[in-house]
Amino acid sequence: MKAASTRLSREQAKEVLVKLESAIGSSSGRSARDATVKLLNSVVPSYSWVGIYAVEGSDLVLDSWSGPAATEHTRIPLGKGVCGFAAKAGKTEIVSDVSKDPRYLQCFLSTKSEIVVPISRGGKVVGEIDIDSEQLDAFSSLDREFLEAVARKTGSVWD
Ligand code: SME
Repeated sequence: MKAASTRLSREQAKEVLVKLESAIGSSSGRSARDATVKLLNSVVPSYSWVGIYAVEGSDLVLDSWSGPAATEHTRIPLGKGVCGFAAKAGKTEIVSDVSKDPRYLQCFLSTKSEIVVPISRGGKVVGEIDIDSEQLDAFSSLDREFLEAVARKTGSVWD
């Protein structure tokens, strides 16, 4: 388990966006998404598990992830869970305490809070970034802003 106790700072968010540009480089599609989840999981201590789901028909399918363990939720119907809700609504969802949200689908016992950020391309939701944290209330409006910027980058090289 990671000893995570700090939220993302504005300075760190800027640094990570620069790192992300070089981690993605000229890659696109799956390899860009692999580089993105790996970087986010390794450089932001409060991001315990980072995944990207892709929309496939009426489901979200797990495409790329980085974290200590695999999730059993590799396919989630649109509208189900926090993931399905955010993708259907096309809006970022922040859950500060997952134990209090009836939509929450549990992946890891250690998860305390979660953020889900839709990824769009050409005005359509094509996927989403899903991050679990072992800290309660780990995600602020800064995380939202930062991850929406990451999602724009991911969407621009989606394939
Ligand atoms: N917690 C999510 C399911 C995905 S796992 O967190 C990786 C949800 O409620 O939709």
